[in-house]
Amino acid sequence: MVDIIVVGAGIAGLTASIKACDNGANVSLISPDYSERSQSVMAMGGINAALNTKGENDSTDQHFTDTLNGGCKINNEKAVEMLTSDAPQIIDWLERIGTSFSRDANGNVDIRNFGGQKKKRTVYAGSRTGKQIVSALVSSCRKRETEGKIKRFVGYRFLSLIFTDENECCGINCIHEDTQELRSFIGDAVIIATGGYNSLFGKILGSTQNDGFATAKLFTQGVILANLEMVQYHPTTVKTPQKRMLITEAARGEGGKLFVMKDGKPWYFMKDFYPELADLMPRDVVSRSIFKVSDGGKKDVFLDLTHLDEYTVKVKLDEVYEICEKYLNLNPLKTPIPIFPAVHYFMGGIQTNENHKTNIKGLYAAGECSCQYHGANRLGGNSLLGAVHGGWISAENAVLEKPKGNVINSIDEELESFKSYAPKDKSLQDTLSEISQIMNDSMGIYRNEGDLMAALDRLDNLDTNVNAKYYDYLKVKLLVILSKASILSALERKESRGAHQRTDYPESDDRYKKSICAMYDDGEIVIT
Ligand code: FUM
Repeated sequence: MVDIIVVGAGIAGLTASIKACDNGANVSLISPDYSERSQSVMAMGGINAALNTKGENDSTDQHFTDTLNGGCKINNEKAVEMLTSDAPQIIDWLERIGTSFSRDANGNVDIRNFGGQKKKRTVYAGSRTGKQIVSALVSSCRKRETEGKIKRFVGYRFLSLIFTDENECCGINCIHEDTQELRSFIGDAVIIATGGYNSLFGKILGSTQNDGFATAKLFTQGVILANLEMVQYHPTTVKTPQKRMLITEAARGEGGKLFVMKDGKPWYFMKDFYPELADLMPRDVVSRSIFKVSDGGKKDVFLDLTHLDEYTVKVKLDEVYEICEKYLNLNPLKTPIPIFPAVHYFMGGIQTNENHKTNIKGLYAAGECSCQYHGANRLGGNSLLGAVHGGWISAENAVLEKPKGNVINSIDEELESFKSYAPKDKSLQDTLSEISQIMNDSMGIYRNEGDLMAALDRLDNLDTNVNAKYYDYLKVKLLVILSKASILSALERKESRGAHQRTDYPESDDRYKKSICAMYDDGEIVIT
């Protein structure tokens, strides 16, 4: 029997665990928290699949083309081909395991418009699609837990990979958040599903659980990262007392329109800029348009839902209605919503091939931590799809692994480092805020060489000896390395493409129609 270790229990990790188990493996599923607290539950608007159930003449080929166009052609085409052709089967599977998608008057799974897509193809569950999918996957996973095929370990944070003497990945070292117990998990293959690297940008839309530690640590252990410069700004987010929150793209899919005041009247600028798709252009385009009409955020920009009917706003966009009422004290049926773009998703991360294999034998990555499907800009609705698909494909391939070498026991090294680490007085929170400030200053919607170079300089001069628990102490040092790799990738791409816009290189240049990769070699970041 094969033993698979899955790290991360959001949609990608849950799917990988279920599928590995159904392919005959024993699974250890390790995560810092319960699935219900993963970032996946925050996904609102929907999941894409060319179901073609409403006579809209959609096809998996069109889904493929839209995804490549949205990603400005630096997506892994083979991976996108598999993603888009498997999508209808994925919806069918999610339904069969109990996901309750919204239905139309005939009882069929309903579909809605989403950005950057020529056809209506986003399957949804009100505006709580992620929650519904997580809930079905959790139940499915529990069945296998009761059969003893999946073992869950909640409360553990990933520390490092374990290798064999033939350089195959065969396990992980972890630390328990509360007890500080160090523990190894050994298996035949490891699937990393740890989500995006939100902590690099501070209080952004995503979960603070997705802190980027695993991605950064893997990088220092020889894993290749790609497209780190591709950071997605979601066009419509709102400021709440705690952090920014998402107003789903579904609000525009259902007919919401963006405007700014001009000459005393609302100007619905998107239809003037882009008559064909208007407010449903891909996110990078919409975010840049908002940035421009607001003069870099100096003027207010609004999302107008006041012309929509009550059913659409209160039922189909239930979570939008709730966020506006609860956090903004605003009824979106009566008052336009003040919005601005904010960091939402990382297209870049652990580079994998179409089978979700990394450059290290026995190591796989799936979900937002991995990079293959989305190129320079992800289409809304393709993240949930990518998470399920990535979990599925990585599991199918991981169960075929059998390391040949002998396990190198590295827990002793971790224990040694744990005993000898020496926190200084510097505040953890202040240091994390400094890192995110540097990243926000240099890696915004628009970038330039001067700001990027200044950011590298600030990172070089940052004191990282923080007063924190072992995991956080290591995290700060790792996040500085990951920040530098992202900035160096942005410097290397001397063109503008998708989410990466350089004011000093405003045109796209086909010499860069490829991924920018980052490697860590003997303490040096190498960009190719
Ligand atoms: O706007 C949204 O509902 C986000 C969806 C996504 O990022 O896929």
